[in-house]
Amino acid sequence: MPDRPRVFVTRNLPGDALGLLRQTCEVAVWPDQLPPSPDDLRREAATTHGLLTLLTDHIDATLLAAAPNLIAVSNMATGYDNIDVADASRRLVLVSRTPGVLTETSADLAFGLLLAAARRIAEGDRYVRAGNWRTWGPEIMLGPDVHGATLGIIGLGRIGAAVARRAAGFGMRVLYHGRSRNTQAEKEVGAAYADLDALLAQSDFVSIHAALTDDTRGLIAARQFGLMKPSAILINTARGPLVDHDALYEALRSGEIAGAALDVTDPEPLPADSPLLALDNVVITPHIASASIATRSEMARLAADNLLTSLAGAVNDNAVNTEIAGDWRAAAAARLHS
Ligand code: GLV
Repeated sequence: MPDRPRVFVTRNLPGDALGLLRQTCEVAVWPDQLPPSPDDLRREAATTHGLLTLLTDHIDATLLAAAPNLIAVSNMATGYDNIDVADASRRLVLVSRTPGVLTETSADLAFGLLLAAARRIAEGDRYVRAGNWRTWGPEIMLGPDVHGATLGIIGLGRIGAAVARRAAGFGMRVLYHGRSRNTQAEKEVGAAYADLDALLAQSDFVSIHAALTDDTRGLIAARQFGLMKPSAILINTARGPLVDHDALYEALRSGEIAGAALDVTDPEPLPADSPLLALDNVVITPHIASASIATRSEMARLAADNLLTSLAGAVNDNAVNTEIAGDWRAAAAARLHS
């Protein structure tokens, strides 16, 4: 039996998360800025009891098959589409995530991107730096008003509802669409349910907050852009593949919609020759919605805490495959001894 569980962390983390893990575990940390390659990750996973992963790490069937002692994967993200949860469950590996702690910070950025795209903030900055600002001009850098406009939110979960609360401060009308109606949030944030087509047709801004699943991949594609107003702006802070990027480029280029603001893309990062990068009516940030100092430290701490709870044989509150709990406990105890 090892004295202490072995843990592999796929990048250096902010805050005291590594210190917390080191109190009871043997901790190895991937030292580079870039993620470990699939081979590197497989090699590390082969001997580890716990993995602390990021959304850039693909925890797929090949990796899980090569990790016989693995007890738990703790993802430092609220999304977990980088993990094959079905296969993890088959192999009795508990998967957890870090919801809740990043809600407000992520909503701040989503709303900031909405403002940036509408009021051409990034474009204006480029204009000034390029030496083009010669005078105050009555027709320079005009954009739509945000206050009083209609915001369509796709996915009224925690972050979507936090964006709706911000929209209320701007006097916006809020529509939402989701897998199911969220009547409590409807009342709390004053959002009205609409089917997706109606939401797309009526909204001045459409902000995506849905999880990426087989059902939502390509949710916004050519037909959906065709339904949107020519003045509409799309904001995506959820996952890149929710939007068909070829269709997005075409909609932005042809004026089918007015603009977009993306914190997530498909792929990430965008290749340097992506045509989207040549368009002025798109604002792109490098997947930083949760990137405040306090929130990233809190996400790391929660991911460490989730992992430690799992390694102690208990199902943590943020586990996503709790249905395996019974068999998992027995498997986890046996794996700790190997
Ligand atoms: C970030 O995208 C997250 O899922 O936490």
